[in-house]
Amino acid sequence: MSTAVAVEPALDLRNVYSGYGTSVIVRDVSLTVPAGKVAALIGPNGAGKTTLLKTIAGTIRPSRGSIYMDGRDVTRLAPARRHLMGACTIPEGRGIFRSLTVRENLQIQARKGEDKRATELAVSVFPALGERLSFTAGTLSGGEQQMLAMAQAYVRQPKLVLVDEASLGLAPLIVDLIFEFLQKVTQQGTSLLIVDQFVNRVLEMADTAFVLRRGEIAYAGSPRQLLTGGVFKEYLGLPAGVAVDPAAPPATQATEAPTSRAPRRPGRAGDSRP
Ligand SMILES: Nc1ncnc2c1ncn2[C@@H]1O[C@H](COP(=O)(O)OP(=O)(O)O)[C@@H](O)[C@H]1O
Ligand SMILES: [Mg+2]
Repeated sequence: MSTAVAVEPALDLRNVYSGYGTSVIVRDVSLTVPAGKVAALIGPNGAGKTTLLKTIAGTIRPSRGSIYMDGRDVTRLAPARRHLMGACTIPEGRGIFRSLTVRENLQIQARKGEDKRATELAVSVFPALGERLSFTAGTLSGGEQQMLAMAQAYVRQPKLVLVDEASLGLAPLIVDLIFEFLQKVTQQGTSLLIVDQFVNRVLEMADTAFVLRRGEIAYAGSPRQLLTGGVFKEYLGLPAGVAVDPAAPPATQATEAPTSRAPRRPGRAGDSRP
């Protein structure tokens, strides 16, 4: 759908280091997401995936290295400025305003004068949200909250979306919806950098893949090569096809009831249900 010929990559990291205080988590990471393409970022729990996404979004400042979006150096830009440039994050734990209604959450994200259109767009991709517009976001099921989080990014028609563990703790049907949605977003020319426990599903839709291990890029290249030939084992010490996030393996997902509602499991990481 995108008619403009984009020459610059949507995202380009050059030798980025970042962490918390004196603890360096991400080391010398260089990666590129070409315009309109999908990149998978995989790696074991604690590898630094979330830290890296926060660094790209701007909530963590890199101690060294540079970050470019659309060819522009954003290394020193505040998160809000990167957001205005079209970079959206769907964060781990969703990042919605739980005390506001669904409609209010959507309108906060809408561009000026586009409140109504934003709501319509959100409902067009997730019809279930249409029946919940006046509900307080905190009262929604985990699956509905995730739909809201994704719809919020969608209504801004972003250029680049960073997706952190969107499927965590959700029922299989909702996970399907989320992957269908991500696919739809890519068809509009949006670039995606996706972290997800369902490694196979992400690799299947990705144009390029990166494996992060102990904060460093251990593999950069074809997703196909990771999917086949036991490269998982080589890079992560796991059999091919196995989810690499031990905190939420698909085996756990499989025990969830296949309903259209997300499971109620208070206290579980990633489930922000009250
Ligand atoms: N706020 C924080 N302060 C200090 N250390 C953190 C913080 N958040 C994460 N870490 C550490 O950074 C490392 C990478 O974590 P994270 O980026 O969440 O990995 P992943 O998303 O790949 O599971 C872990 O060792 C974790 O303990
Ligand atoms: Mg994480």
